[in-house]
Order: sequence, then structure tokens, then C-alpha cells
Amino acid sequence: MNNISTYIGEHKERFLNELLDLLKIPSISADSAYKKDVLNTADVVKTRLEEAGCNHVEICETAGYPIVYGEKIIDRNLPTVLVYGHYDVQPPDPLNLWNSPPFEPVIKETELHPEGAIFARGACDDKGQMYMHVKAMEFMTKTDQLPCNVKFMIEGEEEVGSSNLAVFVKNNQEKLKNDVILISDTGMIAKDVPSITTGLRGLSYVEVVVTGPNRDLHSGLYGGAVANPINVLTKMIASLHDENNHITIPGFYDKVEELSKEERAEMAKAPFSLDAYKKSLDIDAVYGEAGFTTNERNSIRPTLDVNGIWGGYTGEGAKTVIASQAFAKISMRLVPHQEWEEITQLFKKHFESIAPEGVKVEVKPHHGGQGYVTPIDSIGYQAASKAYFDTFGKTPIPQRSGGSIPIVSLFEQELKSKTILMGFGLDSDAIHSPNEHFGLFNYYKGIETIPLFYKYFTELSK
Ligand code: BES
Ligand code: MN
Ligand code: MN
Repeated sequence: MNNISTYIGEHKERFLNELLDLLKIPSISADSAYKKDVLNTADVVKTRLEEAGCNHVEICETAGYPIVYGEKIIDRNLPTVLVYGHYDVQPPDPLNLWNSPPFEPVIKETELHPEGAIFARGACDDKGQMYMHVKAMEFMTKTDQLPCNVKFMIEGEEEVGSSNLAVFVKNNQEKLKNDVILISDTGMIAKDVPSITTGLRGLSYVEVVVTGPNRDLHSGLYGGAVANPINVLTKMIASLHDENNHITIPGFYDKVEELSKEERAEMAKAPFSLDAYKKSLDIDAVYGEAGFTTNERNSIRPTLDVNGIWGGYTGEGAKTVIASQAFAKISMRLVPHQEWEEITQLFKKHFESIAPEGVKVEVKPHHGGQGYVTPIDSIGYQAASKAYFDTFGKTPIPQRSGGSIPIVSLFEQELKSKTILMGFGLDSDAIHSPNEHFGLFNYYKGIETIPLFYKYFTELSK
């Protein structure tokens, strides 16, 4: 495409400042104290889509946070790209581990990003990556190079499960009709190793409560004579993996897709250094399911992890007490063909069945979603591959990711279209963690690559 790098060069500062403004708004969807900020962010996104050349933009109300919808239809006979992203972010805590406040973005140089990286909650996930699409749109409309129709759907509840978006998609099939869905909300292998995400894991998220005696007890007077809910809960959790780190829930693996030797050999070709991996996390060994490599464990295999556990006395000093209740939040990452609702039920049935006498166990299902895999011979994949080749000088590597974007499988089910995941984040960007950041190189490279996707997708669709 003509002049994309010149255009970026001329508007570099503004492209950055607009993103920084967006990052200053704490759009934390999980915490109702930030409701005004989340709503405000939707308004800002709406304005920015209008400025970028969408000719119809609206705020679509839902039972939760609104969806910002924008479009530019230039010719009904041309293909339509639907861009999805999210303007909400994860809570930033623990705050004391941030080197600068999460909603006061700063540019800092790092070893990996000598040209600078933006440090802020949402810098990579997903405001930075979503905004690359808005700026790519600006470039295409301002230079008269938009080759097809575009629709934007930017939601505010991705980090809390997208349940209202699911309703919106089911009720707006005609409005959302498209030929391909384009998302930048994943990562790439390395700064100089472009990749296209071809798979996402599904998710089942549950909360468990173990209740023992009807009140907290003196641990001397009652200790040893009644079931201690925290002891029981930790023992139950420990039993969910066997000595090979297989998950022990009956039926859990029944539908797991087993990859062929050839597929696994292909996966193993992707560049990866176990030493660098361990070093980056400051661990002396990796851990996981026997018989699988690190990259297999974190992408093609299902998992079960405690995300939070609490109960009893955790304040300063000591208090001798047996808590009446113990709690945990547990996530299970699922692979294609595992049904998340079925897995939730299997977990519930099993967890209740292993409870010893003397306690009551309650399993409360939260949200979930299906995994996703997409073929590499689709027009969308080919278009993305050519786009990366032009801007990185290398053919991108297909890679299955361990993360989840549950709405993607619903898109396929309801809208019957394939999703192309063009992620520009790096594993080291610390999404969901303190000091989340996004390299300026990655941000501008994304803006440069996206218009080429439109170009090649339109050409290949003819
Ligand atoms: N953008 C992430 C998912 C992601 C990140 C996928 C990197 C692949 C690579 C998304 O915002 C996210 O955090 N999803 C949640 C699931 C959701 C239901 C809360 C997740 O994966 O924990
Ligand atoms: Mn995201
Ligand atoms: Mn996220």
C-alpha cells in the first residue's frame, strides 16, 4: 500500500498521544467503582472511530457495559472485515508492585524495547492493540485506500466473560454479517518472529466453598476433633492432580483432541529456548503434565489451576483459630472439543464426591467458553500471512495460544465466519500483571501491517 510508513512517520506523536489518553481512563470492568470510567472509555472510542472515518458509529447498550459499533460500507459487493477488540482492562492490583501508576502511562526503554515501551494497564491488552486498528482505519480512509467494507465491534466486558456480547451477537446477525473477523488481542513469538495465533483455549471458571463448623473455633479447644475447612480444601485441591500431573476428574480428558506425531513435530519447530524461559521467570525448573513439552503444556493440553485461595486469619501476628469456611477460585483451561459446561459439571460432581464427612462443599460456576482452532489454508490466514511477510520480511509461524477469548468460538457458531488472530503482543509484556507494557515498535508495526491484511484479503476474495 502507498505510503503507510510515511503516514505513520508524519503522525507518530499523535498516534501515541491518543493511545496514552485512552490508557489514562481506568476502565476496569470487574470493579463497579469504575463504572463511570468504563462508560467514558466507550464514548472516547466512539469519537475516535468517527474521526478515523467510520460513517456510522453508535453506542449499543447491553445489560452490562455498552458495545461500540462502527462501520464504513463502501460497496455491498466487496468483502466485509469485522474488527473485534475490547476497551475494558483487568484490575491493576497489586498496586505496590508497579514501578509507575497503572493509569498514568509512561514511555520507558527496556532491554527488549530500546526504542521504548508504553507502561500502563491495558497498554497491550487490549487498548494498544485495539487502537492499532483504529489508526490503520484512519490511514486507509484518509489516503483513499480502503479496499473493502469495515465493521468495528469494541466491547467493554471481555475481561469479565463477554456474556452480554454473546446476547448482542445472537440478536444482531444481520448487522454483524461479515466475511472475516480480525482481532489483535493475542501475541507473537518474538519481536522479529511474527506468528499468527491459530488456536485459543477454552475456559471453565469455578469458585468453591468448604464449610465446617457453624462458627470460627479456638484451635486448641477444637483442633483435631472437627474437620478444619482449610485443611480439607487444600487436601481436596491437591488430589485434583496425580503424580504425573494429570487431572484426576473422571471424564475430564474424554473429548480432548490428541494431536498427531506430525502435528507435534511441526509445533516443536517454532523457536523456543527453555533456558531463556526459565530465566525470564526466575525459576530453576519447569513443571507440568508428564509426556508433554512446555509449549504443549501451555497450548494444546488442558489445565486446572487455583487462582486464589483464602480463609481463616491472614492479618498481622498470630491468631489461633479454625475457620468455619475456606474458599478458592479455580480455572480450567480447555482444548478444542471439550465442552466447557460439561467440564464444569464434571468438576462439580467430582469435587462434591471427594468431600469428607464433617464438611459441606459448594461449587459455584462462574463464566466459561469454548476453545478455538482455525485452519491455515483459509483466505483470511493467507492474507494475514502475506501482510506479515511484507512488513517483517518473514512468513509468520502458526501458533496455538494458551489464552482464551471465549467469544471467538461463538462468532464462528453464530456468524459462520473465521477469525484471524493477528496479535502483536509479547509474552514479556506482562498482561494482567504489574508493569504491563507494549513496545512502540509493536504498536507501529501493527498499524503498518493491518492495512495490508485488508488489501490482500480483498484481492484473494475475488
Ligand atoms: N487478550 C487476552 C487473551 C489472550 C492473551 C489470548 C494472550 C492469547 C494470548 C484476554 O483479554 C484475556 O485475558 N482473556 C481471559 C479470559 C476471559 C474470559 C477473562 C483469559 O485468558 O484469562
Ligand atoms: Mn484481551
Ligand atoms: Mn485480558
